[in-house]
Amino acid sequence: MSQAGQTHATLARLRALRLELETLRLHGHREVLGALPSNWMEILRGPEKTREPRDVELPLPSKTVSAKPASREEALENLRAEVVVCAKCPLGNLRTQAVFGVGNPYARLMFVGEAPGADEDRLGEPFVGRAGQLLTDMIGAMGLKRADVYIANVLKCRPPGNRTPAPEEVEHCEPYLLRQIDIIKPEIICALGAVAATTLLKTGTPISRMRGKIHDYHGVPLVPTYHPAYLLRNPAAKKDTWEDLKVVMKQLNLPVPPKKG
Ligand code: URA
Repeated sequence: MSQAGQTHATLARLRALRLELETLRLHGHREVLGALPSNWMEILRGPEKTREPRDVELPLPSKTVSAKPASREEALENLRAEVVVCAKCPLGNLRTQAVFGVGNPYARLMFVGEAPGADEDRLGEPFVGRAGQLLTDMIGAMGLKRADVYIANVLKCRPPGNRTPAPEEVEHCEPYLLRQIDIIKPEIICALGAVAATTLLKTGTPISRMRGKIHDYHGVPLVPTYHPAYLLRNPAAKKDTWEDLKVVMKQLNLPVPPKKG
């Protein structure tokens, strides 16, 4: 492997390690981190001045991109390689990193949110902040694990200040989501929040009227529900969201576990 290739591989491994450790920290596993020096984040991140701003976004060596992907994993990795270097809209220059998506390439259920927030932009994984923890709990309440489903966003890059995605940003980014859907072939999509639901379904209908019903998104059934961040601010709406998730479970022929709490 060339020097540049080795550097890229090392940086990718460090990034994956940092993501793993930060995810543990976010999920409260402080005991795991107790054995590490308190400045482990800085050590893994390296000195700011020498860090390449785009170090994790180098295109993959062309030999890894085959003409016809052999598997969904490979197809997703090829698509990820395109997304991490995307500069189709100005958000490409503002991001720390693109947030491609995470989960099971063979997932029957896909969750789609709006866009990465600050935590996601920093860690490179969708739904890792407080709203992400609630989404993980919602998935658990369905009798599933995060690793069973696929989680993505309409936009792959964080809009500054978490503002609502602009129409031209959606226009450039939605094709990536459509390609993810084409590869994963979920049986159903759950759109999280008014912005995801209205941008995907191209409608101005309020989320309160769309939620819990099965809509069509490019031939895939789509059920909108409230965004986990909204549920954190309005816990009373969790009851409605549970009804929406039951619609999803029914569509997938999954047994409905009794709801705790
Ligand atoms: N909100 C979203 O819509 N997506 C994320 O990834 C995180 C928060």
